[in-house]
Amino acid sequence: MMLHRVTLSNRNGATYSVNGRRPLLEQLRGQGVDLPYGCEYGGCITCAAKLVAGNIDQRRQIALNNRQIANGYVILCVARATSDITLEIGVESHDNLYRNPFLDPLKPHELKADIATPEEL
Ligand code: FES
Repeated sequence: MMLHRVTLSNRNGATYSVNGRRPLLEQLRGQGVDLPYGCEYGGCITCAAKLVAGNIDQRRQIALNNRQIANGYVILCVARATSDITLEIGVESHDNLYRNPFLDPLKPHELKADIATPEEL
């Protein structure tokens, strides 16, 4: 089975091997990485981490809007690695995850695709 290397940029560059079949949350926790999580089905955002490099498949996530995805957030409980990746993990990676909707409202094209039509380019 193809293995990918996961480097944790904010854990002194610690590295782990994962396969592309199982979610990153499950595989990293199984190797002793302390990660926040809640629902484990992609809906609550607690497990979000920032993808610094590489590629993942998180088609099953339903927690992130397009703005958060564009900022590099991945939902570890459903995301699978599709290449070697570098992640920033934990709540300290959440600095761009939330913003005040009154001071800085989402634009229509930043909403989820299923509740708003993406802006035409
Ligand atoms: S634990 Fe809820 S979205 Fe991952």
